[in-house]
Amino acid sequence: RDEAVIAPLLLDWYDRHGRVLPWRVPPGGGVADPYRVWLSEIMLQQTTVAAVKAYFERFTARWPTVRDLAAADDAEVMGEWAGLGYYARARNLLACARQASAAGGFPTTRDGLQALPGIGPYTAAAIAAIAFDHPETVVDGNVERVVARLFAVTEPMPGSKPRLRDLAATLTPQHRPGDFAQAMMDLGATICTPRSPACGICPLIDDCAARAQGLAAELPRRAPK
Ligand code: ADE
Repeated sequence: RDEAVIAPLLLDWYDRHGRVLPWRVPPGGGVADPYRVWLSEIMLQQTTVAAVKAYFERFTARWPTVRDLAAADDAEVMGEWAGLGYYARARNLLACARQASAAGGFPTTRDGLQALPGIGPYTAAAIAAIAFDHPETVVDGNVERVVARLFAVTEPMPGSKPRLRDLAATLTPQHRPGDFAQAMMDLGATICTPRSPACGICPLIDDCAARAQGLAAELPRRAPK
């Protein structure tokens, strides 16, 4: 197995089969808008992709830029947020929009992003990679599962988390790291699923140690409570 082949294979798959989502740049081109990337990542923190889509469309139609959102009335934003839950997220959203707008835009580094309200280590890495093409490693539950299988990590979660992060970092490319991060999420969501993974159509089948060992559906293991 060769780590260096994974990213090109996965990016090629993403260009053909990645999910088309309203906050993404369409396949083949354009630059990501940091405001849209940030807004989507905040909404996706505790809410599914399917549920976020319509909220994202309404927010960006009503407030197309971070300056527009920064100038909005608190009550109007809370009203549009209604249904997404976790209302502290909406309050942080406004505080963050006002800080970023006052600063003339979003910071471009992971550390700068993480200093803003509502942006933790995961979200900072995701925005830095997706909006600014920084080679950050973005690890969510989907990515943990994909990596556990690719490397046949049999050590149970959550103890294996640091190892899975290190392994994910060995895969992160310098070229198109944001697309790579989203490709890993998409592979986990659509093919490398928790139950009955669709290994037959996986672009990484020849590179998957768990598949070779007949373990794909069993990984990642979870320590008994
Ligand atoms: N979950 C968190 N960020 C995401 C993204 N950019 N695309 C799809 N799912 C996500």
